[in-house]
Amino acid sequence: MKTHYFDRDSLPLAGELLAKGALVAFPTETVYGLGANALSQEAVQRIFSAKGRPSDNPLIVHISKSEDLATLVRAVSPVAQKLMDRFWPGPLTLVFPKTDAVPDVVTAGLDSVAVRMPEHPWALELLEHAGVPVAAPSANRSGTPSATTWEAVRDDLDGRVEGIVCGPPTDIGLESTVVDTTGLHPRVLRPGKVSYEELMKVCSDIEPYRGSEIVSESTIGNHEGSSPHAPNSPGLRHRHYQPIARVRIVLHPGSTPPKKTCYIGIEPPPPATGYMACCLVRTLDEYARVLFDFFRHADRLGADQIECQQVPEIGLGTALMDRLQRASMSSD
Ligand code: TXA
Ligand code: MG
Repeated sequence: MKTHYFDRDSLPLAGELLAKGALVAFPTETVYGLGANALSQEAVQRIFSAKGRPSDNPLIVHISKSEDLATLVRAVSPVAQKLMDRFWPGPLTLVFPKTDAVPDVVTAGLDSVAVRMPEHPWALELLEHAGVPVAAPSANRSGTPSATTWEAVRDDLDGRVEGIVCGPPTDIGLESTVVDTTGLHPRVLRPGKVSYEELMKVCSDIEPYRGSEIVSESTIGNHEGSSPHAPNSPGLRHRHYQPIARVRIVLHPGSTPPKKTCYIGIEPPPPATGYMACCLVRTLDEYARVLFDFFRHADRLGADQIECQQVPEIGLGTALMDRLQRASMSSD
């Protein structure tokens, strides 16, 4: 398949393609998404084959205005409304009870649907031109670090999708916060840029992220889709965010690191240590923004290991540590 590359001026064309059932990757403020018309079962099905993604992992549906919710969700609880008022458009995904218009392939058979209104101007424009809600997971091959640049999307998906919108690198660099609003109390299913501390200010009864059971992709066949004991954010069970190099979380950079090791963190390593590449960041925001791109850089260099400095689990630190922990899990 020939992949078409779009700039901002050709967003109307990219939107038209999406509406017709094509796969188009596009920038959001979190990571690049791989979009398909969420109301078309056939179009969404193709996302799973393009990514090599297990189909028991439900997708987030993206909308450009609150009115679009009516087609997708059966009810908006008062708490969901408060969260939308405060954080939309933005990096917060909310899980609602779904309508019959949402095909099962989007939700992996669950009777809830995850929805997000991104704030990236290119994403909003594209959604407007598409005129349909757009299901979009991160635009990377399943299991690899999420794509934060269009070049990373191209490396993973060229020839497998109809279009890639070539926008700027993403600003946040980690996927959105996911909050389930279907239960008695809202609950964080995936930590992201909208932190627990910020969510607490809007709904004080919100349950924090508790981490989740993870299985490797090889055991997927044994998983019972939506059994009452299944974790509520099914995607979190699978291998995620892993570069080829082994990821290790470290307290401090080493003074004599092993050969072919890269380092990312806030604390600089002692002078003249033998890291293959070093990425020094000043803030948690910067750490999140560059992390996945650094993983990909280390792989291109042929690194064996990437040492990532641990950060405190507050604010964005919770999301960062979650991604680092997942990336550091052995996949076998
Ligand atoms: O920032 C983001 O959220 C990006 C951009 C493209 O918007 N998208 C993204 O999608 O990260 P994805 O498919 O990689 O992650 C979707 C997450 C998974 O953890 C999945 O389990 C959860 O959302 N999810 C989706 N539908 C759900 C549902 N009905 N109930 C619970 N969790 C759900
Ligand atoms: Mg993903």
